[in-house]
Amino acid sequence: MDIFRKKSIRASSKSELRKNLKVKDLILLGIGAVIGTGIFVVTGTAAADYAGPAATLSFLVAAIVVIASGFSFAEFAARVPITGGPYGYLSVVFGELSGWMAGWFLICEYLLAVSSVASGWSSYFQGFLTSIGIHLPKALTAGYNAQNGTYVDLVAAIVVLLITVWVTQEAKKALRLNNLMVWVKFGIIALFIIVGVFFVDPGNWTPYVPFGSAGVFDGAALVFFAFLGFDAIAMAAEEVENPQKDVPRGIIASILIAATLYIIVTIILTGMVPYTELGVGDPVAFAMRYVHLDSVGSILSIGAIFTLLTVTISMLYSLVRLIYAISKDGLLPKFLSKIDKKHRTPVNATYVTGAIALFFAAAFPLNLLAELTNITALACLIMMSLGVIRLRKMMGEPKQGEYRMPFVPILPLFSAIACAFLMTRLTGATWIVFGITTLIGLGIYFGYGYKNSHMNQVD
Ligand code: ALA
Repeated sequence: MDIFRKKSIRASSKSELRKNLKVKDLILLGIGAVIGTGIFVVTGTAAADYAGPAATLSFLVAAIVVIASGFSFAEFAARVPITGGPYGYLSVVFGELSGWMAGWFLICEYLLAVSSVASGWSSYFQGFLTSIGIHLPKALTAGYNAQNGTYVDLVAAIVVLLITVWVTQEAKKALRLNNLMVWVKFGIIALFIIVGVFFVDPGNWTPYVPFGSAGVFDGAALVFFAFLGFDAIAMAAEEVENPQKDVPRGIIASILIAATLYIIVTIILTGMVPYTELGVGDPVAFAMRYVHLDSVGSILSIGAIFTLLTVTISMLYSLVRLIYAISKDGLLPKFLSKIDKKHRTPVNATYVTGAIALFFAAAFPLNLLAELTNITALACLIMMSLGVIRLRKMMGEPKQGEYRMPFVPILPLFSAIACAFLMTRLTGATWIVFGITTLIGLGIYFGYGYKNSHMNQVD
């Protein structure tokens, strides 16, 4: 048994997917996947329960960790033209088992992120329905919680179903709606900033760090969720016209844009409302209602309802392409890499992932889903950071014109340690589920993947 057998870059078979994405599409894909529940929901929780007005610092800490990790994604994307993002990259540098585990963590991250955001979307949408006098039966309003009398989150399930059907269409078509929504998203964030800045009361920033530095770091582990999704860009590489240049640009640009917006929004939000009152499901709209601008609050709510959809679209889109790439290599059953003749998209992979995401979104509460999303994402980023150090050993320095991660090996080591540190701030329950998830991943590899991998044919 050779779990270190390595994928060759040339082994990547010819793509059957259409190559029509440009850097602008990639930035929109990145922003579509990144800015969502994080800014519309998590900002409030982070301020109220974790860090107070210093939630801004939590976002800053999370942004630094994510940017450091983004550099390693960018260098891999430029130098290792292979499908499947971290799955492909780590298969090349560390071998098949590491590649599969990174891929498995990513699958879990994206699946849980789709479900989490659908569940957050459901809360916003139900708030809207309530405001126009429509009430769903209690049993259908949230995931399973017999004590509260809730069994299924119907709205979350329906939204996952609709998104799944959409993503089976051509890549460009699915992203077109996404791109439009991203502009709506920029619009409502700009509205919040431009209006909100006039209602900032600097007194609300005192005390600035009410929960101490521990609160800032716990907050950072939570708001890390807000940055997830940038790697969607690396996974779309197979459909990009000029991946070597455009994928790194798309990754770095999306992270920087998101980080800037999060920090500005958090500064204004915590300036408008005392942090103790921000523990609500719709903090951005709530802040407007707090200063008696109810109509602006309603515009923001409706905008959030539309734009959270973009996060689920982008994430499901990327997840499907990851599963497609892994299945093409034989590590997951072959029917998952079947391409639909008409739309040229991986249709079976889309339906299977959609069905699983639907189940999680319907059955489980948001907090459980979000924490697990974070821990699997952090595990994958640690592997990526160590991977870039190995990449330099294997392939030397980047050539002229190829993207170069700065300060290797210091920066990737810093990134790995920082990710591990954020993992330690997550709860024990999350760690237990993470342990089980890891064992399932290993079980799939040794029970199915190793035997069926195409590398057996190469050996
Ligand atoms: N980053 C994504 C969001 O904030 C998951 O919703």
